[in-house]
Amino acid sequence: MNELDALVDGARAAFAQATTPADLENAKAQYIGKSGRITELMKGMVALSVDEKKTRGAAINVAKQAIEAALAGRRQALADAELQVQLRAEALDVTLPGRQRGQGGLHPVSLTLERIEAIFGSMGFEVAEGPEIESDWFNFTALNTPEDHPARSMHDTFYVEGGSAKAPNLLRTHTSPMQIRHAVQHVKRHRAGIDKGAGMPEIRVIAPGRTYRVDSDATHSPMFHQCEGLWIGENVSFKDLKVVFTDFCRTFFESDDLVLRFRPSFFPFTEPSAEIDIQFQSGPLAGRWLEVAGSGQVHPNVVRNMGLDPERYIGFAFGMGPDRLTMLRYGVNDLRLFFDGDIRFLSQFR
Ligand code: DAH
Repeated sequence: MNELDALVDGARAAFAQATTPADLENAKAQYIGKSGRITELMKGMVALSVDEKKTRGAAINVAKQAIEAALAGRRQALADAELQVQLRAEALDVTLPGRQRGQGGLHPVSLTLERIEAIFGSMGFEVAEGPEIESDWFNFTALNTPEDHPARSMHDTFYVEGGSAKAPNLLRTHTSPMQIRHAVQHVKRHRAGIDKGAGMPEIRVIAPGRTYRVDSDATHSPMFHQCEGLWIGENVSFKDLKVVFTDFCRTFFESDDLVLRFRPSFFPFTEPSAEIDIQFQSGPLAGRWLEVAGSGQVHPNVVRNMGLDPERYIGFAFGMGPDRLTMLRYGVNDLRLFFDGDIRFLSQFR
């Protein structure tokens, strides 16, 4: 093997050993760089005759081209290998299952509240919301509740900071204070018309929300929900309350096979007062009277505290328990399940 063929073989071997582009460029410099072997051979031709230069030069050029071809081939091979590594690293397995976001859902009591709002909304009732920290005035006094009423004791009510020493603030024990709050706003908006004798658009509102009492067992939770209803006008009667509430119950439970009973009762803020019971005529709860709401004709003192003349305005109120309605609708027997936050229970209502 002549000297030039050996040089080409050496270059090929050196290139093959280079495993990175940087190695390859170093190997290249040894052969076809400025001070590489080929350049040295060219310089070595100075002493040769013109004819010898021709043949020697041509032979060196052939070797140089062979080395350049080997270099180009190796460069390509390294680039291909690098691309393969990159493709493998970035490979996507499109057959893998997608990553799922946990699917959420509304709490069963929220579903009930939405249902209540939709049904009463369709009967022309507004939805109002009010504070859970309430003053003694709105929660008790304005609702005609006497100073010695048991509901006012520390035993029944959570008192909080604020208010006066004689009438501290509290966590509202029912949604009934919203009767006063909403009516006062409504009257304010329509005062001019009322004073001119033009009358006032009827108050028709429901007020759902959280309420609090010192109470805890399978059917009572210290935090629970209520939904208040109020309907005040110049021509509203107990019959209207009966029609509206019957309609509501039948729509809520999706059953016409259901009867209502208004059982005489007592509340300080209504006179007369009635407890509303329902009875399913078929299904698992058939035959039992189930209490679902308190109700009554709004007491004249309460109408007065709304800023209205009880000789002219008459109205009806009711307060129901969305938690209990939810238990009846879904057949849940322990109220505490609603507030334990157990996903296994809650996900059944999705
Ligand atoms: N606030 C009463 C309670 O918590 C329920 C109630 C009874 C509300 C009669 C009313 C009503 O609006 O008229 O027990």
